Amino acid sequence: DWVMGNYIEEAVARIREQVGSEEVILGLSGGVDSSVAAALIHRAIGDQLTCVFVDHGLLRLNEGDMVMDMFAGKLHAKVIRVDASDLFLGELAGKPEPEQKRKIIGKLFVDVFKAEAEKLKASGQGHKGATFLAQGTIYPDVVESGGTKTKKATTIKSHHNVGGLPEQLGLKLLEPLRELFKDEVRELGVALGLPHDMVYRHPFPGPGLGVRILGEVKKEYADLLRRADAIFIEELRAAIDPASGKSWYDLTSQAFTVFLPVKSVGVMGDGRTYDYVVALRSVQTSDFMTADWAELPYSLLKRVSGRIINEVRGINRVTYDVSSKPPATIEWE
Ligand code: XMP
Repeated sequence: DWVMGNYIEEAVARIREQVGSEEVILGLSGGVDSSVAAALIHRAIGDQLTCVFVDHGLLRLNEGDMVMDMFAGKLHAKVIRVDASDLFLGELAGKPEPEQKRKIIGKLFVDVFKAEAEKLKASGQGHKGATFLAQGTIYPDVVESGGTKTKKATTIKSHHNVGGLPEQLGLKLLEPLRELFKDEVRELGVALGLPHDMVYRHPFPGPGLGVRILGEVKKEYADLLRRADAIFIEELRAAIDPASGKSWYDLTSQAFTVFLPVKSVGVMGDGRTYDYVVALRSVQTSDFMTADWAELPYSLLKRVSGRIINEVRGINRVTYDVSSKPPATIEWE
């Protein structure tokens, strides 16, 4: 609309003025905030922006390809995709403890990002490397880190999200979404041409599937979880609640699958199976500080469980998490 069009023009002018002829680097995660920031900054300065997309091997099914398709394919932005999954999975081997896993993933992310930033500088190509680091920081993040709000869940779980990266890299910050609330960021994303499904995605934690595989992370577990979770999300998107006309994906705040590294007995045909268990988690919340488990229709749960057990060999039992927050947390780790 007209208001958003004006906003984009102003934001673009501000970014151009701030950046001048310098180079900008941005960590693209596939999440809403970094995606909208990337699209806006790309609109303003085109190839002066380089996005770095680190695949830590703990992303959802086909997520890496979708991010590349959107940003490199459709927007024609410069995007470097770094496949660091062996590095991350290697370091996580033998480490079952949730906070330790978060620290490992956070630290490796910074290392990989730094190495890419330095490679870019060394590559020459007429430029001296990035002098700006762009981040998709939004207004609620600014307020929270100012300490004016009540104590955040950060004290219970360390939400790494690339803290301290600009200082470590010696870069200036470019944060064009700093004044916007989440709904405004989403409207901006749509106005910039990002697809509705990308802009209205549920939040996904920085450590990704690393905290949705209980205990030790293994590639085998991640592969099973990705396939099960894709089925759950696909069915949530397809199931329309007749009362509201909305999909159950849009009626929930966050939904995902958790991998339990335990085996239970099942039966298939004439044979016995001894396979893994997954839990479906789906919550409704306004602030993620408290949350209710979502009362999904039984028919939907039935379809999801049937499909996962039939389609994902290696999983023979599906459970639904009926715990609210508090005392449970939204994630299982
Ligand atoms: P919990 O599990 O604490 O989750 O009830 C609240 C919200 O925070 C997200 N979450 C994280 N996000 N890094 C993140 O970026 C993390 O380590 C992390 N842990 C939890 C969770 O997905 C939910 O939206």
